[in-house]
Amino acid sequence: AQEDAFRVAFRDRHVPSTAARRAARPYADAPGHETFANTPDTDPAVGVARAWARGIVDREVPVPDGAIRVATVDDVDAAVARASAALPEWAATPPAERARALHAVAVALEDARADLVATMVHETGKTVAEADPEVSEAVDFARYYADRAADLADGVVPGAVHRPSGLTVVTPPWNFPVAIPVGSVLASLAAGSPVLVKPAPQAPHCGQVAMAAIQRGLDAAGAPAGILTVVLSPEGDVGRRLVTHPDVERVLLTGSIDTARLFAGWRPDLDVLAETSGKNALVITPSADVDLAVADLVRSAFGHAGQKCSAASLAILVGSAGRSDRLRRQLADAVSSLRVGPATDLGTAVGPLTEPASGKLLRALTTLDPGESWLVAPRQLDEEGRLWSPGVKHGVAPGSWFHTTECFGPVLGIMRVATLDEAIDLQNAVAFGLTGGLHSLDEAEIDHWLDRVEVGNAYVNRHITGAIVRRQPFGGWKASTVGPGAKAGGPHYVAQIGRWQDAPDVP
Ligand code: ALA
Repeated sequence: AQEDAFRVAFRDRHVPSTAARRAARPYADAPGHETFANTPDTDPAVGVARAWARGIVDREVPVPDGAIRVATVDDVDAAVARASAALPEWAATPPAERARALHAVAVALEDARADLVATMVHETGKTVAEADPEVSEAVDFARYYADRAADLADGVVPGAVHRPSGLTVVTPPWNFPVAIPVGSVLASLAAGSPVLVKPAPQAPHCGQVAMAAIQRGLDAAGAPAGILTVVLSPEGDVGRRLVTHPDVERVLLTGSIDTARLFAGWRPDLDVLAETSGKNALVITPSADVDLAVADLVRSAFGHAGQKCSAASLAILVGSAGRSDRLRRQLADAVSSLRVGPATDLGTAVGPLTEPASGKLLRALTTLDPGESWLVAPRQLDEEGRLWSPGVKHGVAPGSWFHTTECFGPVLGIMRVATLDEAIDLQNAVAFGLTGGLHSLDEAEIDHWLDRVEVGNAYVNRHITGAIVRRQPFGGWKASTVGPGAKAGGPHYVAQIGRWQDAPDVP
C-alpha cells in the first residue's frame, strides 16, 4: 500500500486536454513521461549557478542596433510589405529546410542564454531561477517545432497536403517575454508563414534580444531575408493597423481576454489563435501529502510573483484538509519565509512586479471582502509599489470577487468545502479554464477530478505552472482560449497554421 501511495503521489499525471477528450477529438500526445532535451523543469539552483558563472547580474542589458526604434503607424505598411515580399520564397522552401533553419535558431538561442536571462532580470524583475528555464523553454520550442515542420512534408499525412498561408502577426505578453514570442514566431515560421512580431511594450529589450537571436540563427541557416520583422511600439494604433492590414491572415495572441475581444472587434474575419486569462485553483484533499501539496502550492502561487496566466490563485481545501492546523501553519511558514527582494539578488524567491501594482491586483493586495481575513498579510516594501511580500487570504466566499477575478500577482485565496464535488464546482464556476491542480493520494478521487474538471492543463500531485514543451502541451478551455484550441508545445500547434488540401490523386 505504501508503494501504491508513492506511485500515485509521484505519478505527475497530465491530461493533454480535457476539452479535447470531451469532444472526442483525437489528441495524439507524445509519451506522457518523456522529457524533452532541454527541459525547463530544471532545478532553480542550476540557473543560479549559471548566472554566477556568466556574471549575469552585472551584465549590461544588450540593445541590438544600439537603440530601440519605436514604430509609428506610418511604418506598418512598409513592415508588412517587407514580410509579404518574403512570403513566396519562404512558402516554397521545403519543410525539411525550414526545420533546418529552426535547429540553427535553437543553437543561436542557447548561445544568447546569458544575454536573455540578464535582460529578463533587469527589465522585468523576473528572478534568475525563473528566467533561466524560460530560455530553455524557448530552445525547446525551436527544436520541437523544427520537428513538427518536418511533419508537414507532402506525403506525411495520407490524403492531405499542407500549404503555407498568409502573414502572421505575433502579439506576446510581458510576463514570458522570451519563451512565448519565440514559440509563437517559430511555430509560424515552421508552417511557412513570415511573421511580424510586436513585443510587449513592458519588455521591449527582451523582445529585441530574443528576436535578434532568432535572426542570427535564420541567417546562419541561409533563410531568406524578411521572414521576421519586429514592430516595436506602445501605441494601440500601430497594433490596430497591423492586425487589420489586409495582407495579414492571422494573429497569435497571448494576453488578456479583453485584447482578444478588441482584435475580434477590429476585424471579425481575422484568424485569431489566442491563449488568454486564467483563474486557477489547486484542490487539496485529506488524503494529500501535505508537505508536497504546500510546496507545490507556494511554487504555483508565487513563482514570478504570481504573474503567470497559469499561476494558482486559489487553494480549495476539502474536508479535514481545510480544518487542519498543520496545513495552515506550514503554508503560513512557507509563504512568510520566501525571500522578497531585487531580481538581481540571486537568493530572491519573489522579485519585483514588472509594473507597480494597480487596479485589480492592488485591490486584491489591500482589500478584504466580507468573510475574508489574512493568514499572511502582504506588505508593500518599496515606494513605487513593485515590491510586495506575498499574501494569503482565507475565507474567500463562493461567487465573491476574488473567487472569479484574475488578479495576476502575489496573492492567494483559500476556500474551504466539505466534498471534492463542491471543490470541483467552485473550480468550474469561473469563466476561465486554463490550469488546475489536485493533490490527492486516492486513485478514485484523482479519476473523478480528472473526469469533471474544466481546464486545459490538469495537473495531479504537481505544481500547476511551468508546462514542459511536448510533455505538457499548454493551452486553455472556455474563456481561456480563442480559436481551434491546439496547444502550444503540442503536436498540432504548427499544423493548424496554414491550409490543408486534399492530396492530388496519384495515378
Ligand atoms: N506555459 C507557462 C506555464 O505553463 C505559462 O506556466
